[in-house]
Amino acid sequence: MSIHIGAKKGEIADTVLLPGDPLRAKWIAESFLEDATCYNNVRGMLGFTGTYRGKKISVQGSGMGIPSALIYCYELINTYDVKKLIRVGTAGSYQKDLTLGDLVIAMAGSTTSSINNSIFQTAHYAPTASFDLFNKAVTYAQENGLAFRAGNVLSADEFYDDPDDLYHLWSRYGVLCVEMETAGIYTMAARHGVDALSILTISDSLITKVRSTPEERETGFRDMVDIALQVGTD
Ligand code: HPA
Repeated sequence: MSIHIGAKKGEIADTVLLPGDPLRAKWIAESFLEDATCYNNVRGMLGFTGTYRGKKISVQGSGMGIPSALIYCYELINTYDVKKLIRVGTAGSYQKDLTLGDLVIAMAGSTTSSINNSIFQTAHYAPTASFDLFNKAVTYAQENGLAFRAGNVLSADEFYDDPDDLYHLWSRYGVLCVEMETAGIYTMAARHGVDALSILTISDSLITKVRSTPEERETGFRDMVDIALQVGTD
């Protein structure tokens, strides 16, 4: 086992879906996978392996924010030989025409985190999705009539900003929405030569201040998980 994941080698699939919330990992395993077994409950950060369309796939809670997500990604890649990381999460909209329940496939991750400053110093690294996973997700969504937006997202270090209207700047530069993990996951995947993709569902809007109901969250989650599972088992 690794420090934060209590699985034996071989118990985790090559492809792992990464919701932030461990209970959402349980919901995905119970609602979409066959023969799912729980391989981790260290710190309550549940992880499951099962099959989807006959192919082995895992789902692991990653926690909130880049530091937490990177602990799980590092251990998945380096201890368990995971090759594809697919984040499934929620995000807050930065654009007027992006509303509750809309799907976003993240081409790139901007960030307020300083993780890359210590590596690249005065230069700026651009964390991007795996083209292969991105292309498969876009193709699947288009072929199945699932509306989506693709573009740049912001991975913020803070959920509660002060001042709370910082979004205007990112919005003006075309950033679609804010969440807290994608830029870190894309950077780590690149560093270790594996594939990563983030698929997000809009759960709130920084512009109109509306929030999804629990029912809306679940419906939105279904389309996102459907795309992630198709891409992960392709
Ligand atoms: N900020 C950061 N992360 C989020 C948000 C938000 O408004 N909504 C969902 N995830």
